[in-house]
This record gives sequence, structure tokens and C-alpha cells, in this order.
Amino acid sequence: MANVYVEEIARYSGQTVTLRGWLYQKRSSGKLQFLQVRDGTGTIQCVVERSLVGEEFFALADRLTQESAIMVTGTVQEDKRSPLGFELHVTDLQLVHEALDYPISPKEHGTGFLMERRHLWLRSSRQHAILRVRHQLIRAIRDFFDSAGFTLLDAPIFTPAACEGTTTLFQTDYFGQPAFLTQSGQLYLEAGAFAFGKVYCFGPTFRAEKSKTRRHLTEFWMVEPEVAYLDLAGDMDLAEDFLESIVQNVIEHRGAELKFLERDLTLLERVRKPFPRISYQEALDLLQAKGKEISWGQDFGGDEETLISENFDRPVLIHRYPAQCKAFYMKNDPADPRLALCLDVLAPEGYGEVIGGGQREDDLETLEKKIADHGLPREAFEWYLDLRKYGSVPHAGFGLGLERTVAWICGLPHVRETIPFPRLLDRLKP
Ligand code: 4AD
Ligand code: MG
Repeated sequence: MANVYVEEIARYSGQTVTLRGWLYQKRSSGKLQFLQVRDGTGTIQCVVERSLVGEEFFALADRLTQESAIMVTGTVQEDKRSPLGFELHVTDLQLVHEALDYPISPKEHGTGFLMERRHLWLRSSRQHAILRVRHQLIRAIRDFFDSAGFTLLDAPIFTPAACEGTTTLFQTDYFGQPAFLTQSGQLYLEAGAFAFGKVYCFGPTFRAEKSKTRRHLTEFWMVEPEVAYLDLAGDMDLAEDFLESIVQNVIEHRGAELKFLERDLTLLERVRKPFPRISYQEALDLLQAKGKEISWGQDFGGDEETLISENFDRPVLIHRYPAQCKAFYMKNDPADPRLALCLDVLAPEGYGEVIGGGQREDDLETLEKKIADHGLPREAFEWYLDLRKYGSVPHAGFGLGLERTVAWICGLPHVRETIPFPRLLDRLKP
């Protein structure tokens, strides 16, 4: 008997096959048992008929508990009413392992309860759909850069210095010296861009975020491209091409999962170039016109981002923030040095900033001064300054937060379900 996966069941129509999985749900109607069996690739209804399998098997099916591991053999039959289009008519059933008192029942549970049991919660259809969207998004991201001639260059996790400000650093002991978990691979990618031209890194990054919000994790994945001879305008074009491409790719390949999550696809289908581009000043005017009390020089928080994105039906690019609210490595705008040549992309529907980046300072003396002005230790940045001594050129890049993008694409209210084992201010387990 062929062992098959649920996802390939259509190929076995009319044949007898064996599925190996777990009991997801069960219902019975006297002479029939309907077992929902999941095997990781999908869920299928398995029909156990008393008159066909006999009393002993029927009694076994009747006793089966949720999440027990089972092997079911049966005939694959077309069934137009089932979401899969097929069901299995069971001829044999084996119990591999009996699960007693599985804690997550089909009834509603609170998020705290489920988060505590995240290792089991991953088995639910909803988590399955979200994490398959995440997987596809990762593929789409890699595809985009790989097919555009970028070289993947992994950045280190242990770092000697801060990239994104000293207030969100996780410090650890590195053989008697302090080391920090990386906040961003950017500085290393700048070295990479001068070596390879177009590079990207994609890995976990860490921020000791002391606030509880629906957009912040303490460990999240970021993809960061960096390109030599690229200016801010080129960086905005790249961000726009990239975001359109990855969102459309996920709609194309994970439509079923998005439908299961009841995502309104028409909103995602609008993620098409060109995206509106507004300056910080224009965004500020818009906020003030909406009655928000905010003055020039203040950074935008979640509330401001939501108010801005309400005006647009697709992602919006905001460029040229005041340099004072951005990181030390940003290049100032020659046309108005109070401004940084930076860009943020806000997702629509209030999902907030999904991309941050810009053009980097490429002049040695200016960068030395910025490091000093930000109170950063020069020794830790000597290697970074070297890049401005030996063949420095204009260059730019950005970082996209994977989990915020998954939350937006799936239409989730919080980022905590977008990563298999979320790390939050109050959560290090499981
Ligand atoms: O805007 P950020 O801080 O930019 C950088 O780190 C740059 N060095 C990237 C670069 O230019 N190479 O972070 C980039 C993105 C944000 O837009 C957001 O999507 C995500 O990373 N992000 C977070 N996601 C989840 N939890 C957090 N605590 C996040 N902090 C940033
Ligand atoms: Mg940012």
C-alpha cells in the first residue's frame, strides 16, 4: 500500500492508499465516523463505516482522541462538497500513539493560554496557514534578490557595536568582553556592497523593545539589500519593485491560505507600482490637517503611521525625515542638511512601517563627526570608517521586517502569530 500525503491525494483517486498523521477532529452519526486527519500537508475527511470495517475497528475509531497519531488506509473518493475535493473511505486503521487530554480543544481559547502552548498550537489550521504564508514570503524575497543579481552575504549575530541606537541593545558576555546581539546587518552589508556591488542578508535581528505593542518583537527576521552606486531615488525604486513583487508572489502561491484566513485579497491586489511618495514635511502637514499635535523634528509612532496610511490605498513611501530622529549612518540631504536621505514604507490598513532604509553617509570626515555626535565608541567603528577611506561611493539599501509584512499580508492584528516561536517583552517560553 502506498504511503501518501494529503496534498497529493488527487493523484490517487479511486486507489487504496495509507495516510500517516494525527486526528484533528472527529464527529459521528451512529453508523458513521467522520475523522478529520491531518498530516502536515493538509487535512482530509476519512469516513469510517460500521458495516464496512466491522465492530472492532469501528469501536477503535469511536475511542480515538484528538491529536492521537494514526495510520489510516482506505479508498480515495471524489467528494465535491469537501474543501479538498476528496475523502478517504477507510478500510484499515492503526493507532500509533494515543494522545490523552490534548489541552487545545476546538473551543475558543485566550491568546495567553495558546501562547503558553505554542508548541502544540502550531498544529492548528490557522497557524498552518499563517506559517505557510511566511514560508512563501521568504521564498519570494530570496527569489527577488537572487534573480536580480544580488549575492547573499550573511551578517554576524554577535556584534561589537550598535547599529540602530543604544537603547534597544541586548548585551551578552563574549569571553570577558561585552558583545551585542545584532540589531541589523546593514553595516556589514555596506562592506559587502563595496566588495560585491549588490548584496543582501536575511536573518534574525534583535531589539530589546521595552514596550508592548502589536508590531514589536524582540527577535525578528529582517531582509536587507545594499547596493553600491545607488542613491535615495534608486533605493525608493528598488523598495517599490521589491514590495510589489513579493506581495503578488504570495497572493499567487498562497491564495488558499489567505482565503482560509478570510483575507480581503482585493486590498492586496492593489499593491502595484507606482506607490505614492511623500516627504516627511508633507506627511507632517497631513497629520496636522487631521488635528494631530505634532511638530517638526518628531518621529512618527504607530498612531501617526496609521493616520497617514488611511489616506492611501497602497503602501506609501515617506522620504527625508529630520536627521535628528534617524540613525547615525544616514546621509544628509545636500539640498537641506537638516534632513536625512532616508525612506520608510508604511503598509496600508494601519500595519505601519514595514521598510526602513536610505542612502548612507559616504564621506569619512562627516561620518567620523556623526559617530562622535551620537556618542558612539569610535574604536568599534574603525573598520566601518575604513570603507570611507578605500574607494567610497554613494550607496543605499533598506531593511524589511518579515513578521510585520506577514501580519499585513495575512491581515492579523498582532505580529505574535507570524513567527513559529515569538519572543516578546514578556515571553521567552516555549
Ligand atoms: O527601520 P529599521 O530599524 O531599519 C534598520 O534596521 C536599517 N538598518 C535597515 C537597513 O537600512 N538595512 O528596521 C527595519 C524594519 C522596520 O521597517 C520594521 O519592519 C522591522 O524592521 N522592525 C521590526 N519588526 C518587528 N519587531 C521589531 N521590534 C522591529 N523593529 C524593526
Ligand atoms: Mg525604522
